[in-house]
Amino acid sequence: MAKAQRRYECQACGAVQPRWAGQCGDCGEWNTITEAQAEALTPFSAKQSLAAGGRRIELGALDRETPLPPRTPTGLAELDRALGGGLVAGSAVLIGGDPGIGKSTLLLQAAARMALAGRQVVYVTGEEAADQVRLRARRLGLGQAPVRLAAATSVRDIVTTLSAQAPATLVIIDSIQTMHADTLEGAPGTVSQVRASAQELVRYAKQSGAALVLVGHVTKDGQLAGPRVLEHLVDTVLYFEGERSHQYRILRAVKNRFGGTDEIGVFAMGPEGLGEVANPSALFLTERDEEVSGSVVFAGLEGTRPVLVEIQALVVRLTSGATPRRAVVGADASRLNMILAVLEARCGLSFSQYEVYLNVAGGFSVRDPAADLAVAAALVSALTDTPLPPHMIALGEVALSGELRPGAHAPLRLNEAAKLGFTSALAPDRTEGGTGLKLLRCASLAAMVDRFAPARDG
Ligand code: TYD
Ligand code: MG
Repeated sequence: MAKAQRRYECQACGAVQPRWAGQCGDCGEWNTITEAQAEALTPFSAKQSLAAGGRRIELGALDRETPLPPRTPTGLAELDRALGGGLVAGSAVLIGGDPGIGKSTLLLQAAARMALAGRQVVYVTGEEAADQVRLRARRLGLGQAPVRLAAATSVRDIVTTLSAQAPATLVIIDSIQTMHADTLEGAPGTVSQVRASAQELVRYAKQSGAALVLVGHVTKDGQLAGPRVLEHLVDTVLYFEGERSHQYRILRAVKNRFGGTDEIGVFAMGPEGLGEVANPSALFLTERDEEVSGSVVFAGLEGTRPVLVEIQALVVRLTSGATPRRAVVGADASRLNMILAVLEARCGLSFSQYEVYLNVAGGFSVRDPAADLAVAAALVSALTDTPLPPHMIALGEVALSGELRPGAHAPLRLNEAAKLGFTSALAPDRTEGGTGLKLLRCASLAAMVDRFAPARDG
């Protein structure tokens, strides 16, 4: 008789290894490999071939009329926006994010709003005691909302309870890593437990038509902890991001079977919980009255939504011969180095005798190449100590040749700037005009330098 095959599974990435090892060969994590449960035999295991003996399935046409899945607004417009227009009945949503970022707060607020709107909402917490959640709800002024609350971790108990009730519109499980499926051995949070628990809960959602929201932990490097398989099991994956030291939070869709993944929701964490930020630009622009050098507003884009952020540069002359420091907060350090190199090679501006500090105000983070021109303008302004026009924004990508290229969706960005009271825009030659903004066109980075710092000597 054949010996039962042992399987070893990495708890970090879910890879199956032929033998135990200290380090996973797939993801490189240490001490994550454990022996996995043998797959149970099914009545079909004995049949060798999968080629025959099944049921016929119906094959349909692609253009058949399909009703759109019904959506329920959560009452939080920013959450609805990230979801692509509200919760879809029978779908599963996974929300990942660092501990303490506000996942439980967000979901409690959404649960309360929906319950107050007359929907049946169930909130199951495996992380906190029920009283802790009640206290938080009271502190948020939501203590009266008719949310059905329980502290539980057994998936069997939870599904039994839910199935015995009138179907809920929304079921929240906080978090999937604390859930336990008693069909399998192993502690909650292991790959097989998380997978089995999620599968069962997703099955309940599909059958009952409830929208299911799972909270997922993330690891140090920001991935959803445990198995990537979790992301495959659900319809929508949202990440809740932000720095804990700053108040703003961004809810970003990374997968959505029922909508786009380019929308974000913006919130601000305050004493009354998460407030919605309908106009993010106001949040990311600091008070801008005085004319100071080294400060430029960049018209950024988050998904399809324009966001204005202030980019600040500071240069400090070196007194010793030490290697000058380049420090960056909220932007890409290698991009800064590239722009410094282009300014030196194409415009004759050397920063080699200066320390350079670059900061994106408000704790926002910019990854858009269209920010290059704003960064370059801030650097030139700081180096020459020349304030730039106060109501000007900048937009454009810098090529290694020193040429400038317009970023994507320039009209959208320019319109946002005009709406917020900006009057001019520093932009590449080929930029399409926006309404109401005077375009200060530059063909190259050197043209920009000539425009703002013509009287420089060396
Ligand atoms: P929480 O929702 O528990 O985070 P998660 O579920 O993602 O771990 O958020 C907890 C943090 O939010 C905590 O550090 C305190 C802060 N907070 C506020 O600042 N204001 C509030 O009204 C609430 C409820 C929490
Ligand atoms: Mg929590």
